[in-house]
Amino acid sequence: MQQQFRVGMVGLGTVGAGVARILTRHGDRVGRRAGRSIDLKWVVVRDLKKPRDVDFEGVRIVDDVRRVIDDPEIDVVVELIGGVDTARWIVLEALAAGKHVVTANKALLAEHGPEVFAAARKADRAVAFEAAVAGGVPIIGAIDVGLAANQIQSLAAILNGTCNYILTQMTQDGLAYDRALADAQALGYAEADPTLDVDGTDTAHKLAVLAQIAFGADVRAADVPRQGIDRLEIADINYARELGYAVKLLAHAKIGDGGLELRVGPSLVKRDLPLAQVHGAYNAVRIVGDAVGDVLFQGRGAGMAPTASAVVADLIDVATGRAAITARVLDRWSTDSPPIPLLPASQGRRRNYLRFSIADRPGVVAALATILGDRGISIASVIQHEPAPADEDGAPGPVPLVIMTHLAVERDLRAAVAEIDRLDVVRAPSVRLGVEE
Ligand code: NAP
Ligand code: HSE
Repeated sequence: MQQQFRVGMVGLGTVGAGVARILTRHGDRVGRRAGRSIDLKWVVVRDLKKPRDVDFEGVRIVDDVRRVIDDPEIDVVVELIGGVDTARWIVLEALAAGKHVVTANKALLAEHGPEVFAAARKADRAVAFEAAVAGGVPIIGAIDVGLAANQIQSLAAILNGTCNYILTQMTQDGLAYDRALADAQALGYAEADPTLDVDGTDTAHKLAVLAQIAFGADVRAADVPRQGIDRLEIADINYARELGYAVKLLAHAKIGDGGLELRVGPSLVKRDLPLAQVHGAYNAVRIVGDAVGDVLFQGRGAGMAPTASAVVADLIDVATGRAAITARVLDRWSTDSPPIPLLPASQGRRRNYLRFSIADRPGVVAALATILGDRGISIASVIQHEPAPADEDGAPGPVPLVIMTHLAVERDLRAAVAEIDRLDVVRAPSVRLGVEE
């Protein structure tokens, strides 16, 4: 057996504790698969006094990351603190000191992928990041290796366990949004700042990373048009159900003649499609490749053990030398690759779910239909329920009108909805969600 492979891990929260558990409890198995023993030497935390539910025999716990970076025995630094600035500094310092890096930090890669990988090339070291996208689902390896023969044409994915958990709890168990979010936090699914989960930023970070892996695109999260679930109303989940759809927070990427189309947002998914049946903290990635056709990857996308599974797999990949070969051959976020243009959001085409809140008067539905029709937007189906009860003055309540469109160009749809919202018969801003085919 080759010499030991020594690990310095920075961060011992949900994911770090899971990694420490696998390495300390299943060291033999991990060592066999790596062809050498993988030893956790250092763990860096912020608060040394915090109680830790991990057996740390032989592991040194410190609050100074320099102990790890300056230790010549350390082969790899595992960054599991999250956030961008400190994590960036740690990763760059580790590479400069000749260490390989394993990270689960999609925010870091989405914001600083080019810088991190330029530093890795300069240092001739690997940066492995399977846990950064879809938690325990080995989607990076699947695209790099299993689908390597394909030009990927499109992907549609549930990439945030917290949001999928919240949507599942609200839909199946009738839980309130706040309670479902608090449960997701308690279960270790959410980011330290859960706003990043629910406003769609975390999914945009992951989509930016996938855009690099699947299409070679250099994308920042800010380039991805996005909407979260934080403003989603239960009424829309209920109307979607009535129409035969589930609502999921989807990441979407599609390559076409005009460039790469990317977006993140709550979308209606036909209830009999596999993505609609992905529940709880599970993630799923549906990929269409030119040779393989349609493939679906599914598994736990957040939480201690599933994410640690991906981090330890990366450690094994680095220890065997496979990660270094991958890094050299695939040359990620390289400036040598020809840039792929992003399709402006206004030129995207999709089906839409629209909900208007309108006055219960003759001719209103016809007026809305005319505005949509004038922009070439074709209506696929309509639901209108009885008006809300009259208020104390006897004035009739607004009527919800739900319209499903056929494929429509985003620019036309936006213009039509803006025009409708300016009508005096419209009682509240309209709601618009995408529909996944
Ligand atoms: P977490 O539970 O908040 O843990 C963060 C850990 O980092 C804590 O142990 C904290 O120390 C330590 N830390 C923070 N700042 C530090 C600093 N400046 N120096 C040293 N240690 C520091 O986070 P997590 O959920 O494990 O997530 C870690 C990373 O994995 C993030 O990038 C996240 O996006 C990613 N990720 C998480 C999941 C998941 O399901 N949770 C899944 C996939 C990817 P103390 O313990 O002393 O506070
Ligand atoms: N907060 C993230 C999620 C963790 O809920 O999916 C996994 O990246």
